[in-house]
Amino acid sequence: MNDRSATEAALLSLLDLARQAAQHAYAPYSGFRVGAALRLAGGQIVTGANVENVSYGLTICAERSALVRAVSQFGPEIRIEAVAVANLNAAPSPPCGACRQVLSEFIMPDAPVIFPTDDGPHTMAFRELLPLAFEMKAK
Ligand code: THU
Repeated sequence: MNDRSATEAALLSLLDLARQAAQHAYAPYSGFRVGAALRLAGGQIVTGANVENVSYGLTICAERSALVRAVSQFGPEIRIEAVAVANLNAAPSPPCGACRQVLSEFIMPDAPVIFPTDDGPHTMAFRELLPLAFEMKAK
């Protein structure tokens, strides 16, 4: 197996973990069950699922759920080197804008992000998904 197919195989297995994580989603309001899996620079894998709330606005997406778990478990120095997002609804689900901004604090710009589209799983580098993240540069 060459480097490229090894990377693709690793991403597909991350996607599988995201799908498994979606089984734990709490989504009684939308019925849209999402899972996310993050691979950290140290090789650790952390998953999360969306957790909805009756107030709707307090809902936490799967990607942020996984990220909060990763920081809580491994500390604030983590670097995310790959992300997979899946859902149990056979629908496209790229990470939402809020999740992109939150991921940007901890992710490597070149990290591949794999997510479902109408044409099957699609991979993009994080910096293509969020080319102009907000940063705070104090003067
Ligand atoms: N959702 C995610 O978990 N991740 C996203 O990137 C977009 C949306 C969740 C939030 C809500 O529980 C459901 O999907 C429908 O929007």
